[in-house]
Amino acid sequence: LPGDNTNRLGQRFNLLRGVTVLCPHLFETISCSPLSVRSGDRYIPTRAGSNWSINFHYANENCHSPSQNHKAKDASTESGKDTVAYAALLRNELLGAGMEAMVEPHADDRRQAVLTPSARSLFRYTVHTKKVPFDSDNDVSPYSLSPLSNKSHKLLRSPRKPARKISKIPFKVLDAPELQDDFYLNLVDWSAGNLLSVGLGACVYLWSACTSQVSSTPSCTTLVAVGTHKGYVQIWDAAGGRKLSSLEGHSARVGALAWNGEQLSSGSRDRVILQRDVRSPPGAERRLQGHRQEVCGLKWSPDHQHLASGGNDNKLLVWNSSSLLPMQQYSDHLAAVKAIAWSPHQHGLLASGGGTADRCLRFWNTLTGQPLQSTDTGSQVCNLAWSKHANELVSTHGYSQNQILVWKYPSLTQVAKLTGHSYRVLYLAVSPDGEAIVTGAGDETLRFWNVFSKTRCTKESKSVLNLFTRIR
Ligand SMILES: *[C@@H]1O[C@H](CO)[C@@H](O)[C@H](O)[C@H]1NC(C)=O
Ligand SMILES: *[C@@H]1O[C@H](CO)[C@@H](O)[C@H](O)[C@H]1NC(C)=O
Ligand SMILES: *[C@@H]1O[C@H](CO)[C@@H](O)[C@H](O)[C@H]1NC(C)=O
Repeated sequence: LPGDNTNRLGQRFNLLRGVTVLCPHLFETISCSPLSVRSGDRYIPTRAGSNWSINFHYANENCHSPSQNHKAKDASTESGKDTVAYAALLRNELLGAGMEAMVEPHADDRRQAVLTPSARSLFRYTVHTKKVPFDSDNDVSPYSLSPLSNKSHKLLRSPRKPARKISKIPFKVLDAPELQDDFYLNLVDWSAGNLLSVGLGACVYLWSACTSQVSSTPSCTTLVAVGTHKGYVQIWDAAGGRKLSSLEGHSARVGALAWNGEQLSSGSRDRVILQRDVRSPPGAERRLQGHRQEVCGLKWSPDHQHLASGGNDNKLLVWNSSSLLPMQQYSDHLAAVKAIAWSPHQHGLLASGGGTADRCLRFWNTLTGQPLQSTDTGSQVCNLAWSKHANELVSTHGYSQNQILVWKYPSLTQVAKLTGHSYRVLYLAVSPDGEAIVTGAGDETLRFWNVFSKTRCTKESKSVLNLFTRIR
């Protein structure tokens, strides 16, 4: 813990060093403008003498803005990007496409974007007399020797957004021996204070990523709630490694927990959700009864008003604070609902995922009770989390591909697919800075991935990666 530099990450059972161990006994993401023909006949350009690739570079050299030059240099390191720029330039010069800005296609769309327009519109016979409007902010000198049109100059100067790249390899892999392969459990969490907790066997391991930055973390006085196999909910003081209380009330294992301020909700195999204030005396808990089988997913809404719960009865329920009966009940999933996530961007938007027999991601407007989008992911959905920084979410999967998928919302286009776990990816937690995720699986590994970037081009990222590097 604080000041401990002796962590040797990457070794088996390395979670053990410099960590607090709690032992509570047994628990659980180019369109061409119409062809402008310059005369009433087909315009068939001659390419001879047009050393396009040379001209392309010449145009870049004529660029007076140093930052633009810099950008062009940066971009030239990526041949794929230049291919797109070159293709766009050719379309401007040969087809009169009049493109003024680079459209950076998504990696998967690139082939299509480059091929489709020419295949569709090259040599099309139309008389098109649309006058290209005079562009006042053209700053190409009339005396310019450049053979390129004004539009192409603009095109070459348009800023290029770098394509979002998500690393397909985890930046850190930790061994987590005895991490159970049980769909109904939730054994990994990452606190606001940058404390990672993992339930392994009969113990909970707490690993503090914050302590390498001694200055910026006032809140390492964290409470850790642990649900046990016997139905107890234990509250531990993370800093002291001391058990503060053990709450009774459940008659079977507690597989799901969710904090809401000082309130703690617990979901159990006994089908009941108990809600209690950790400061009040025992017996003051609220009993939420609605599920007919084990409760395996529990999440509080960002506004702290609603609790969503998922169960092995294939139901997704939404509860408010004034009733002991569910406010909403969604029965569309065809398998256990463990994956639940409230959008931090849109009030009342809830996402849920179904198990092996269902495989669907579903979205709900809980303000109106209306179902929104849904998509079949092709495999069991084990967990879901939204990005804090972009309208994207990540889902982790089990049977049969054990993959991690990053989605854009609301289009539900897949931004990335990460593979590596050899067992279903049952556990997921997001770092407090919202940039990294940690995934856990029955292959007894924890994998750390950078999936949600806060900004696109920060060289010095503030991600936990740096924290880890410093620990080493
Ligand atoms: C195009 O540029 C290359 C490289 O300088 C040169 O070798 C080639 O002869 C040029 N082609 C024409 C048609 O000017
Ligand atoms: C390009 O812009 C310059 C300056 O605004 C203008 O004089 C010239 O006619 C334009 N050239 C073409 C081909 O539009
Ligand atoms: C809470 O849910 C109950 C049960 O559906 C409903 O009757 C009640 O109006 C809701 N209360 C609020 C404040 O939304």
